Amino acid sequence: MKYPKEYLEEIKTRLKVSTVVSKSVNLKKRGKEFVGLSPFKNEKTPSFTVNDEKEFYHCFATSEHGNIFDFVMKMQNLKFGEAVKYLANLAGMQPYMFTKQDEEREKKWKEYSTIYDMYVDFYHNELLKNEAHFNAREYLKKRFLSSEDVKKFKIGFVEKNANFFAKLKNDFSEETLVESGLFYFDEKNKNYIERFKGRLIFPIKNISSQPIALGGRVIDDIKYLAKYINSPETPFFKKGSNLYNLDCARKLSNKLNNIYLVEGYMDVIGLSKNGIENVVANLGTSLTDRQILTLNQFFDDIIICFDGDESGYKAALRAAESSIRELKPEKHISFLFLPDNEDPDSFVNKNGKDYFIDFTKQSKISIHQFIFTHYKNQTQNNPSSMAIFEKKLRSIAKTIKDDFIKKYVLEFFLQKISELTPYSNIGKKQFYPKRVKSLQSTQKYFNESKSLTAIEIKEFSLLYLIMKNLELFQEHIHLIESIKLFSDENRLIFQTILLKLKTNEKITLDEISIDTQLIDKIYKFASIKHILQNNQNDPNKVFELLEEISRDLKNYDLELRIEELESKFSQDLSETTFNEIRELKKQKNIN
Ligand code: CTP
Ligand code: MN
Repeated sequence: MKYPKEYLEEIKTRLKVSTVVSKSVNLKKRGKEFVGLSPFKNEKTPSFTVNDEKEFYHCFATSEHGNIFDFVMKMQNLKFGEAVKYLANLAGMQPYMFTKQDEEREKKWKEYSTIYDMYVDFYHNELLKNEAHFNAREYLKKRFLSSEDVKKFKIGFVEKNANFFAKLKNDFSEETLVESGLFYFDEKNKNYIERFKGRLIFPIKNISSQPIALGGRVIDDIKYLAKYINSPETPFFKKGSNLYNLDCARKLSNKLNNIYLVEGYMDVIGLSKNGIENVVANLGTSLTDRQILTLNQFFDDIIICFDGDESGYKAALRAAESSIRELKPEKHISFLFLPDNEDPDSFVNKNGKDYFIDFTKQSKISIHQFIFTHYKNQTQNNPSSMAIFEKKLRSIAKTIKDDFIKKYVLEFFLQKISELTPYSNIGKKQFYPKRVKSLQSTQKYFNESKSLTAIEIKEFSLLYLIMKNLELFQEHIHLIESIKLFSDENRLIFQTILLKLKTNEKITLDEISIDTQLIDKIYKFASIKHILQNNQNDPNKVFELLEEISRDLKNYDLELRIEELESKFSQDLSETTFNEIRELKKQKNIN
């Protein structure tokens, strides 16, 4: 039996090739691609590349290439159906159950998507061209939308006395047309009505960019009409599973780590036309676990930014309490609160992209901080209220599925509570304060080292080695003279030390003016200090260590240059560039 195309497409769009491949191959990022050692061949130089944008892998060693299904079939020696099952599971999707109704459903899907395509295209063109829709176009202008924006989001306008039903009824059954959600039967007048008549329509697309539902907005605020209506749930549109604009935003996940989650259509469009395109909306419904998981398949950081009013705040709190369940160590969820009565659309239109991004950096708060602050503000300084507060926070932390993150969120809550209840900690030293303290210092070390790159830490080792053996290196300055450092700060000290050494006067560390904070950092993070301790006075060991470090630094330099040339090569495809790359790769291997 054949899997429906819709299902396979969804797996493909949910899983980056690099995500699938990296389960079995160690991949390194190189420009737009990833490279690694071919899993199909024993090799020492990586010739296996993965391109997420093009959705394929290519092995230069064996000339094989393909998509995620091909990769899994080949790697795990699976049949196609088994690969589909494995990947669907990885994508967080239900296994596909073939039933007798499958063919029927596949047929229905074809009709459904055709109806939506026709409907969306027709009313989009009407909005762009029909003279009669002057008002709708004026409305959009008033909201700062250009015709480019209208085209990008394929916005349409359905006239008041629309009758698209008549156009479709010869080709589709009445049942099919009603199931699309675009029409409903008016019992009183015994005719079919267009649900979206008199409204601007915003197509909601599935992850593979097929329109599957609509949102419709009135253009003049009439009291008895809802401002927005959406398609009802249909066999192919389930509200808690979809996100508006996910199909476009997900394509940015190669470049960006974060995604904005907003409430409405106009918020997505407003941010997007101001240059912030990594944005999706959950369309006024409560956020579901599925939506969080879907976003996490593409982005590590979710920034939830709802309207700056009471209902936006309440929605944010609901979103926080439900999405914290899905928190994972390598993922972050944070909240961005806008000034009163602003929504993302109005705020970005007033202030522009850069301001919005700066504002995000400065004002977003983590999900655990938000939850803590919210409940603390609800708490009075009396035993009963405090007890309820602690119980609430503990019960929220308990809902987190991942055990590690659960532990640390709980620690965070308890530490914050212990700051509010200093007396409880006296005499209980073995309890929270101690644990929290050790946790804090490891956390601090971890945070500091996290902001350092591997190469900076290497450089610290080099500087440490030199600083501990000034005399030796004064004699052998040629060994270090031409080493290239990458961090500006480190390079500066390195040069200062070199200059001093070259004076040929006997020097001590105190005579070299180095920022003490930096010295502290070097002493703290130089990873060779433990090795050196035992070999302090053995010049051979020192030289050996030096050689190792300078080789790593040199290789890093080569890697950078190769990366640069590879990206040049992908543009110019010139043979000279290719040969240069080969030469550098050779050097790198010799090293
Ligand atoms: N919504 C809805 N039904 C309503 C009101 C809102 O489905 N009666 C959903 C829509 O998806 C809407 C989102 O909730 O986009 C946010 O609502 P709101 O903040 O009121 O709309 P805005 O996006 O600000 O729309 P506009 O700026 O056009 O007024
Ligand atoms: Mn708005």
